Amino acid sequence: MPAPDPHAAELADRAEDAFRAEFGADPAGSWAAPGRVNLIGEHTDYNEGFVMPFALPFYAVAAAAESETWEFHSTYRGGSTVRTDTLDGVTGWAAYLAGIAWAMNEAGYPVRPTRIALHSDVPHGAGLSSSAAMECAALLALADLYGHDIDRGLAARIARRAENEYVGAPTGILDQSASLLCEEGRAMFMDCRDLSRDQVPFELEAEGLTMLVVDTNAPHRHADGEYAARRADCEEAARLLGVEFLRDAPDDASLEDDRLNRRLRHIVTENRRVLETVKALKETGASGIGDLLTASHVSMRDDYEISCAELDSAVDAALGAGALGARMTGGGFGGSAIALVEATSAQKVEAAVTDAAAEKNLPTPRVFKARAAQGAHRVR
Ligand code: GLA
Repeated sequence: MPAPDPHAAELADRAEDAFRAEFGADPAGSWAAPGRVNLIGEHTDYNEGFVMPFALPFYAVAAAAESETWEFHSTYRGGSTVRTDTLDGVTGWAAYLAGIAWAMNEAGYPVRPTRIALHSDVPHGAGLSSSAAMECAALLALADLYGHDIDRGLAARIARRAENEYVGAPTGILDQSASLLCEEGRAMFMDCRDLSRDQVPFELEAEGLTMLVVDTNAPHRHADGEYAARRADCEEAARLLGVEFLRDAPDDASLEDDRLNRRLRHIVTENRRVLETVKALKETGASGIGDLLTASHVSMRDDYEISCAELDSAVDAALGAGALGARMTGGGFGGSAIALVEATSAQKVEAAVTDAAAEKNLPTPRVFKARAAQGAHRVR
């Protein structure tokens, strides 16, 4: 096991301070789980296709210890605490934690009432999987506290079930598997059918490159309804083609209905782009993937129709200022874009993205540099 990320250790100090202040006792340990960026492979997860996320160096940390009753504390926005004797019907942010406990019980990994204090610096509402980070930190904490050695792929499935069935969000398995399975300095190719993985070296600094993440600060408009609508389109397209999932659609498949045909085309071409990205990374390094990233954005903008003015502005401005490639990342309808740039032009691209938003009267984006960080781990 690699040593804990020093930044996760700093966050753990804060989580443990909050635990002591709130509960008047010491936690038994601290567990960190990161947010993610998806390099490529969007909306392919629930079609049993390919994804390629990497972990961001932002973590949710859960400080935890066994207790008489369930007690969930979060430091977010001044702090709040939820206490409950039962795991039934917990809502709001604590549902992500209660849902994990529920899903572990359901999966045959029984857990008992626990105190958890959460402290996270994964940007909230930025499409960088702050909720999966919370879930996965809680899952590792509960697994260790109650002596369950759970395979990480299975853990991702349990966390996804918490999100789907307890929280009620119909997401795929991308976010939880990214948080639990990514490795430092690697982008993780994953086949969402069997969760088989290839950890591909992704050391941008050594290549003189930088990955910028642009949190557009756009409000997530209709994100939930539109996400469910895309899933329904994919299911309908698969049904018409006579396959269980669009992953199995032949490369030359087409459908009469224009909208369904474009949804199909996105999934088929996106899966192909993920495979090409893996190949390019291995053969030429990250400098060879720019066009694939940009083609992915165009496909999401025009065929899958999940982009928005803020994301398009960021992508266009980054490309205009010399980025090698750029795309929205995550579910869409707001959230974040990524831009792969020569390290020497990072400032120029950042300025172009910010200026473009100001010119169009869009919210001021927050731009930061990303590196591939560690997946979820026990801090202490
Ligand atoms: C969200 C979902 C994931 C995945 C992405 C799109 O992040 O939570 O399961 O579908 O959107 O790739």
